[in-house]
Amino acid sequence: MLIKSAEFVMSNSDVAKCPKDRLPEYAFIGRSNVGKSSLINMLMQRKNLAKTSGRPGKTQLINHFLINKNWYLVDLPGYGYARVSKSSKKVFQKFITKYFEKREQMILAFVLVDCRLEPQPIDLEFMQWMGESQVPFSIVFTKADKLKPNALKRNIEVYEQKMLEVWEEMPQYFITSSSNAEGRDELLGFLGNLNSTIDAS
Ligand code: GTP
Ligand code: MG
Repeated sequence: MLIKSAEFVMSNSDVAKCPKDRLPEYAFIGRSNVGKSSLINMLMQRKNLAKTSGRPGKTQLINHFLINKNWYLVDLPGYGYARVSKSSKKVFQKFITKYFEKREQMILAFVLVDCRLEPQPIDLEFMQWMGESQVPFSIVFTKADKLKPNALKRNIEVYEQKMLEVWEEMPQYFITSSSNAEGRDELLGFLGNLNSTIDAS
């Protein structure tokens, strides 16, 4: 898919105030610092479209970016950082869960997972919640540039095994790096296909 335009539209914490035009949208969610904002910039080939930071907690609001004047990418705040507790208490900000519950034009969410880490309870819990709430999602492994191919392969296998303890099958997943654009064509192709099934381009 060719990216002809990508523009920031608005930030807010209230799902009721998000764009009302009913264009399809795709959301990026995951732990703080996993690389959500960086992935949006990589996909759009724009350095600073979404604000990134080495320190967790950079994105605090729901951010809408209009792509090709026809669909949105949505950058969300990370979970699991701010009020994280030692027990695996849920720490998903209310407005994030509300966003997924209320936003009917949200076609699919990408749950980002750092490929270097073993499966984290908070991510597994979040995906469990997505499943129970019937929110469609795919997994995006980030920071693939940080691992050698064998280690990457091993970690993905471990992840898949863990998922299969709960899920009937491994959700669709992508392997990406915002540093070297690995996975860009696959992700954009996937988005293009989704858009064509709902008549956006
Ligand atoms: P919050 O907004 O705080 O939730 O974080 P985020 O998930 O949006 O992460 P962000 O994109 O701000 O990236 C966090 C840090 O990871 C930054 O220092 C990025 O440069 C780095 N980073 C993100 N993606 C990659 C990647 O694919 N490879 C490498 N090497 N670093 C990455
Ligand atoms: Mg961010």
